[in-house]
Amino acid sequence: DEAELRAHFEATVAADRRVEPRDWMPDGYRATLVRQIAQHAHSEIIGMQPEGDWITRAPSLRRKAILFAKVQDEAGHGLYLYGAAETLGADRDELTRRLLSGRQKYSSIFNYPTLTFADVGVIGWLVDGAAICNQVPLCRSSYGPYARAMVRVCKEESFHQRQGYELLWTMMRGTPAQRELVRDAVDRWWWPSLMMFGPPDAASPNSARSMAWRIKRHSNDELRQRFVDMTVPQAERLGVTLPDPELAWNEERGHYDFGTPDFAELARVIGGDGPCNAERLARRTAAHEDGAWVRAAASAHAARRAARERA
Ligand code: ACO
Repeated sequence: DEAELRAHFEATVAADRRVEPRDWMPDGYRATLVRQIAQHAHSEIIGMQPEGDWITRAPSLRRKAILFAKVQDEAGHGLYLYGAAETLGADRDELTRRLLSGRQKYSSIFNYPTLTFADVGVIGWLVDGAAICNQVPLCRSSYGPYARAMVRVCKEESFHQRQGYELLWTMMRGTPAQRELVRDAVDRWWWPSLMMFGPPDAASPNSARSMAWRIKRHSNDELRQRFVDMTVPQAERLGVTLPDPELAWNEERGHYDFGTPDFAELARVIGGDGPCNAERLARRTAAHEDGAWVRAAASAHAARRAARERA
């Protein structure tokens, strides 16, 4: 009976074992996972756009090949994640409809423009760095298919982060004009990267529940701090200044102190009013409509094959 199933679920979570698709789970747990995994999948797919803009303008064949591979990886991550959402009974077409109609979110970070090629490096370094900070603990998320998808995603993300760092490393050892491009890009992306971790804990309606269910393993503020601590020494090594006058090592806490991101800006961007929200969704919608014939052909092929197998 349900009490027994619930007790089994609670024990599984408490023992740090994985909940699997066929297991009983509370409706709220399922709904929270579908919400988070779908938002995560949408972020990967929309996240192809800001960098994809630079594929045709990469400064060398080598940089073009790297960027191409990276953007393809993002598509792959989106597909694993939609697959993970489907194990919870979510319908992929419905998730896409919810994205396109603005009923489901995607990460705020992908609503900022990529103005120069240095942005490609900074996205790899800071945005993928923040994504890794957030996603490594998700490899221990209580829902099996999500946790396992994260293992592979994180391996690829660390590769992306290094390529960003290497690109910036090269530019910082280039001309003064290249160093200026890096400085400008870091100035523009630093605060939006900190916002990726979500609202502060006190204003995060989902955190407590998600942490109790061990879907999330750390709070938004904990991960934001971890990201700052990880990134400051990398910035020093690179020779770039992060645009935060409050940034300082705090001996007592054993962490860097840092300024407060503009959470009103985060709320606006999440609410649809960021610099590129309309453009991102319009492009995704057009791509979806242009791809209708592919879906129709794939469905017809699958139906014919199924009919042949039955015969
Ligand atoms: N961008 C867009 N929406 C956000 C962001 C953000 N940076 N931060 C929080 N939100 C949304 C939440 O989805 C939630 O919305 P909803 O309840 O209407 O669905 C609301 O703001 C309140 O936030 P929280 O209560 O803190 O939400 P949650 O517990 O889900 O934490 C977080 C947010 C940290 C983003 C979490 O969902 C998570 O870890 N997701 C997995 C990682 C992910 O999605 N990464 C995508 C970007 S990384 C990349 O693709 C390169």
